[in-house]
Amino acid sequence: MIVVAGGTGTLGTRLVPRLAGAGLPVRVLTRDPARARPLAGPGVEVVRGDVRDAASVVRALHGAGTVISAVHGFAGPGGVSPASVDRAGNANLIDAGARAAAAFVLVSVVGASPGHPIGLFRAKHAAEETLRASGIPWTIVQATAFMETWATIMSQPLQASGKILVYGRGDNPVNFVSAADVAALTALAVTDPGLRGRVLALGGPDNLTFNELAAIVQETTGRRGTVRHIPRPALHAVAWLTAAIQPALARQARAALAMDTLDMTYDPTPTRQAFPDLPETDIRLALKDLLEGDRRERKA
Ligand SMILES: NC(=O)c1ccc[n+]([C@@H]2O[C@H](COP(=O)([O-])OP(=O)(O)OC[C@H]3O[C@@H](n4cnc5c(N)ncnc54)[C@H](OP(=O)(O)O)[C@@H]3O)[C@@H](O)[C@H]2O)c1
Repeated sequence: MIVVAGGTGTLGTRLVPRLAGAGLPVRVLTRDPARARPLAGPGVEVVRGDVRDAASVVRALHGAGTVISAVHGFAGPGGVSPASVDRAGNANLIDAGARAAAAFVLVSVVGASPGHPIGLFRAKHAAEETLRASGIPWTIVQATAFMETWATIMSQPLQASGKILVYGRGDNPVNFVSAADVAALTALAVTDPGLRGRVLALGGPDNLTFNELAAIVQETTGRRGTVRHIPRPALHAVAWLTAAIQPALARQARAALAMDTLDMTYDPTPTRQAFPDLPETDIRLALKDLLEGDRRERKA
């Protein structure tokens, strides 16, 4: 049994059908089983659990042969944070995985390190260290920014109000990878025992600035909008003023500043050469798939 924590997310909804389609039994751990409804099908079970609640994690991992952590607490419902989900929640998953004598695949980020300016990257590094020290068989999949996540963040306000928000100057190149490609690598990490003890880092074909991404989103949606920049001083002010009252907003402002200033480029060649059969999804294709998925959802 493969237990997928985060099976309902952008990556998880591409990963679970891939595993189940290969005839592997999958159990999705979610805080809200209603969110897993679109994943229903042969070979897919759903269990309620919260990675911050160790007892619920132990119950969810009963009989697991492999555990995949595709969760994060950077944003999203339920008052999550990188400290409670990526650090402590992953520690709960790893501990329960060890009790079940399961193998563990951790989805992390390219650049995870103890001194990184983005808190999520520090928490992911802590999870990687906990996993390495756990003694259970492990594989770490690190990914760059997901095209689907960032294109959605840009296209939703474009569709709703004709505006696109760009945080900061938007001229810093960032590597974007498709969540579909990361799902393919994660599935491989599950099924190939030869990949135990390895860190597999995946990026996409393009390093793009947010200004370039804004142009691609307009071109693909066929809708032109006004690009509004949130200046860096405004992001600094939000990060500072909301730290105590709205920590998630402050976290997002700090991360936006970091993404506007740090080297976020990545050369995916080594992993691409090692796994030549992995899909390499182009950003325009990923966006088209996303828009078609949205249309199907609206019709249903
Ligand atoms: N998005 C990116 O740009 C990006 C880039 C690199 C790496 N990654 C990594 O890829 C993985 C998947 O990210 P994503 O963007 O696909 O995520 P996402 O779409 O934002 O979804 C977040 C997932 O985390 C789960 N989750 C959050 N808090 C939880 C909790 N307390 N207990 C149980 N589940 C919890 C949610 O499940 P429920 O809401 O159903 O409980 C949901 O499935 C993460 O490890 C992330 O760090 C993402």
